[in-house]
Amino acid sequence: MTFKSLLLLSLVPLALGSVSILDPSNYVDLSADVDDNALLADYTTDGGGPMYLIDNIAGRYTYRDTDAELDHETLSVDANDTSVLLITEGSNVNLSHVDVVKHGYSTWLNQASFFGTNAALNIANGSTSHITDSNITTHNGAAGIFAYGTGTTVHVSNTDFYSSGPVSHAMYAAGNGTIYASNVRSYAGGNRCSTFSGDSPAGYIYVTDSISHTSGIGSATFYALGEIHANNVVGHSENAPGLFSDGAQKAVFENVDLTAGLLAGTVMFSSSVRRTGASLSFTNSRLTTLKEHMPALWFGNVIAKASIIATELNTTSGILLVANTSQVTQAFNYFAGVEENSSIQPAEVSVTIAESTLQGDIVAYNGSSIAWSLTDHSTWTGSSYLEGSGSATFSISVDDTSTWTLTRDVTVDAFTNADPGNKNIRSKGFNIHYNPSAPKNTWLKSKTVTLPGGGKLRPRS
Ligand SMILES: *[C@@H]1O[C@H](CO)[C@@H](O)[C@H](O)[C@H]1NC(C)=O
Ligand SMILES: *[C@@H]1O[C@H](CO)[C@@H](O)[C@H](O)[C@H]1NC(C)=O
Ligand SMILES: *[C@@H]1O[C@H](CO)[C@@H](O)[C@H](O)[C@H]1NC(C)=O
Ligand SMILES: *[C@@H]1O[C@H](CO)[C@@H](O)[C@H](O)[C@H]1NC(C)=O
Ligand SMILES: *[C@@H]1O[C@H](CO)[C@@H](O)[C@H](O)[C@H]1NC(C)=O
Ligand SMILES: *[C@@H]1O[C@H](CO)[C@@H](O)[C@H](O)[C@H]1NC(C)=O
Ligand SMILES: *[C@@H]1O[C@H](CO)[C@@H](O)[C@H](O)[C@H]1NC(C)=O
Ligand SMILES: *[C@@H]1O[C@H](CO)[C@@H](O)[C@H](O)[C@H]1NC(C)=O
Ligand SMILES: *[C@@H]1O[C@H](CO)[C@@H](O)[C@H](O)[C@H]1NC(C)=O
Repeated sequence: MTFKSLLLLSLVPLALGSVSILDPSNYVDLSADVDDNALLADYTTDGGGPMYLIDNIAGRYTYRDTDAELDHETLSVDANDTSVLLITEGSNVNLSHVDVVKHGYSTWLNQASFFGTNAALNIANGSTSHITDSNITTHNGAAGIFAYGTGTTVHVSNTDFYSSGPVSHAMYAAGNGTIYASNVRSYAGGNRCSTFSGDSPAGYIYVTDSISHTSGIGSATFYALGEIHANNVVGHSENAPGLFSDGAQKAVFENVDLTAGLLAGTVMFSSSVRRTGASLSFTNSRLTTLKEHMPALWFGNVIAKASIIATELNTTSGILLVANTSQVTQAFNYFAGVEENSSIQPAEVSVTIAESTLQGDIVAYNGSSIAWSLTDHSTWTGSSYLEGSGSATFSISVDDTSTWTLTRDVTVDAFTNADPGNKNIRSKGFNIHYNPSAPKNTWLKSKTVTLPGGGKLRPRS
């Protein structure tokens, strides 16, 4: 089932909607976990606890500097702050056909997030693990696999993940740990349970041929803190974006089909000072946002680059991109502004579109800027505009294989067109007002010219 549908995705993207995608929520009794899923993550100072490791990580089955193979076993624990398996200090432990079942709560969420306390499997400090044909189930709020520390590498394949409770990331890499996942299926019912996640200082995730379904607020398919590389992944996040990216992180998506139900298709921000160098790319992919007002791509308090290659952005809102002087808070359910933190700065975003047909607007708020570049046989039907008070900077370029169809008058700082006759513009009677003193506009010589469709390209007054 999985591979057929994913192949369809790369060959005929639009056919995917008719293929049913199965994940563990299709066979687990979700009603048994309603209480768990109602628990809210509490990262306030008291709920979060210290950010440094306060206790040694505890595990029911512990391997230190030991090699082992586990085959056809069921391993479980029912205790707070305790992993089922702790694999550390350069161990190499492989699992095949193993059911790992974890019950028990986290006392301190920061211990769970930064060090993997209470994860079903905690694989740490230069250890390696190959996990195949297994089932990893957690309740009461616990990560599935936590990979921690330089040199720690986890390979997981043909494995199902199911979790209930908050902060239950299925695959969670931190402290430079790396996870390679292929052919995994995951469902999380709680809040803040992004399926493929990194955490500080960085986690590295490589995922192929996989399915993710999350239902809670703050539970995205991907949470980049470090790097995410994904190929052939279908993700549905009912109450979160497809991606959160916090800081100068990197997310590279190919052949993915992400559907998002809250905030935006992707949300790139900096949770502290504005960071420079965040990057995002989609190739041969589809990103769908389900609700009104949700843009496909959202940026706030960050300086970022994105490329959209042979990709479909399907929004209900008609908004392709928002750049805002804003941030998501740790509540993950609204965009906050300077009223909450006076240090928040505008977003500066530069997007290159190639081989894509896009419909919708690009919108900047309060000092933000968007550079939007149509290349390689792309077609854009839409406009740029400032929302709210303040100013915004738009810089739009069109190459001679691409076309732009306007849907309202626009004011741009820079306008560059590889076709000096502007034959690739369909103005529909709308005008492009450009800044005559911007260096990129010298080719326009402050002149007014008529565009195909009757609108004017003219210097702004
Ligand atoms: C674990 O699996 C890997 C990859 O198959 C293999 O190279 C390694 O020797 C295995 N380790 C043990 C302890 O069996
Ligand atoms: C485990 O944590 C839960 C939830 O915080 C708490 O109610 C319970 O008392 C704890 N159990 C133990 C043995 O500490
Ligand atoms: C990993 O190494 C650090 C630093 O030596 C140590 O504090 C921590 O307890 C180790 N973690 C595990 C799970 O062994
Ligand atoms: C995990 O368990 C479910 C329910 O028993 C089963 O349908 C599924 O095949 C199992 N997954 C793997 C990889 O064994
Ligand atoms: C992660 O890598 C950085 C940079 O190499 C290093 O300073 C840090 O100690 C590493 N952290 C862990 C937990 O291995
Ligand atoms: C406010 O923003 C600054 C810098 O952007 C950050 O360092 C600080 O942690 C933020 N404060 C809160 C309460 O989020
Ligand atoms: C856009 O997404 C909606 C909601 O999933 C779907 O009904 C619609 O068919 C999609 N449109 C295209 C052109 O894919
Ligand atoms: C933009 O940011 C303001 C706060 O500065 C916020 O109230 C508003 O909801 C944001 N809108 C979007 C679409 O990001
Ligand atoms: C716009 O951003 C500036 C800081 O860059 C802030 O002082 C101002 O309050 C913001 N305005 C709105 C409407 O959010």
